[in-house]
Amino acid sequence: MEIKDIEQLYLHRQSCRAFDGREVSEELVRKVCELALLAPSACNAQPWQLVAVLGERRKEVAACLQGMGMNKFASDAGALVAVCEGRSNLTAKLGARMKDTDFTANDLGILTAHLVLAADAAGLASCILGWRNEDKLRGVLSIREKVRIPVVVALGYAKEDDPVRPKQRKPFGETLTILH
Ligand SMILES: Cc1cc2nc3c(=O)[nH]c(=O)nc-3n(C[C@H](O)[C@H](O)[C@H](O)COP(=O)(O)O)c2cc1C
Repeated sequence: MEIKDIEQLYLHRQSCRAFDGREVSEELVRKVCELALLAPSACNAQPWQLVAVLGERRKEVAACLQGMGMNKFASDAGALVAVCEGRSNLTAKLGARMKDTDFTANDLGILTAHLVLAADAAGLASCILGWRNEDKLRGVLSIREKVRIPVVVALGYAKEDDPVRPKQRKPFGETLTILH
């Protein structure tokens, strides 16, 4: 694979807010999650757990992501993948204490990035959803109290009239500093 293929992937991936309602097959969800779980993490602690929701239960999960007009489109997602905090390891815990930095949030963010890029490569549209009712979500997913669920990733098929948009980003020159 050439860098230009990777570039196309990065340019093509965008937040989809118009899914067509078709369910994503379990096989494809498994594949995308399997690839995403190759993401790096501090001390290789992999402090995460993915919970993929298919079928009728999608509606219950979508309801946890909506309110005040937000994320109505989540009801049409073909699968919803909750990115949850999971068990860490001793090295990461010691490192976090010694360096006063807990990398769990970074690790979950990196996993999420891998998930949406793997989804795009697999022909799926996606949207990371951070607007959620975490308590309600834990209830619907039967997840223990205090386990954080920072985002849910909506996966699915974009409606035909949902074109690839130009990226809205801060100017490159303002966000990269190169020192020699
Ligand atoms: C942590 C996080 C939370 C987000 N939460 C939401 C959300 O609840 N609803 C939504 O429509 N988009 C959400 N987004 C998508 C961002 O708005 C989007 O990534 C950003 O505007 C850039 O657009 P792009 O993804 O199309 O390149 C979230 C993105 C991230 C990384």
